[in-house]
Amino acid sequence: MGEGEGLTIAMPKGRIFGEGIQLLRKGGVHLPESLEPDSRKLTITAVEVGLSFLMVKPMDVSTYVEHGAADLGIVGKDVLLEEDRDVYELLDLCISPCRMSVAGLPDWSPVLHPKVATKYPRIASQYFREKGQQVEVIKLNGSVELAPLIGLADRIVDIVSTGRTLKENGLVELEPIVDVTSRLIANRASYRLKGAAIDNLSDRLASVVNQKGETQHDACGETG
Ligand code: PRP
Repeated sequence: MGEGEGLTIAMPKGRIFGEGIQLLRKGGVHLPESLEPDSRKLTITAVEVGLSFLMVKPMDVSTYVEHGAADLGIVGKDVLLEEDRDVYELLDLCISPCRMSVAGLPDWSPVLHPKVATKYPRIASQYFREKGQQVEVIKLNGSVELAPLIGLADRIVDIVSTGRTLKENGLVELEPIVDVTSRLIANRASYRLKGAAIDNLSDRLASVVNQKGETQHDACGETG
């Protein structure tokens, strides 16, 4: 990475941060040991390698990148589909695999216009529109699995990872909508101004992802 070509990367805290940092390290980026996800700090700078990290909410990653507050972001495909931001999607990192699904109570009987609770109103609306089914979408910000249990909604559209949240709340997965993995995204202007540094980082990550792909079967989604 050249002088003056420092990069800012927006990342969600938690699992994606941990897996993203691991990928960078495997790609030969010498990040300091002190870079740990359980810190309460919202910005972390690794001066040695010219990288700064912004710790943001998952749903906000592509917003920071679109507006140029971050050059790069690591973000789930679910967020990219929901937010539809004007950013470059550079690479499928094949980390944090899960899927977006319709779920509900096992004994639910169909109604004419079901209510669907979700953190992803855009994805849910599009999915049911394409099926030709009229639904009322109810936007929630979390704990979506509660909605069918207390009669707020007939169905949910949400992320299923291990399936534990559904199981522990007596819900079943009904229809998978789309597979989700985390992606590397870039701000369009940053890519023009700092293309060499961004390509360098993206190539390093791609080589780790490809190596992993050769040695194990993983749920890598489609880029685009
Ligand atoms: C996510 C998602 C599901 C759960 C799925 O929620 O919205 O609720 O994880 O994971 P599982 O299949 O492994 O149980 P999150 O933990 O982000 O919390 P939230 O419901 O408050 O958004």
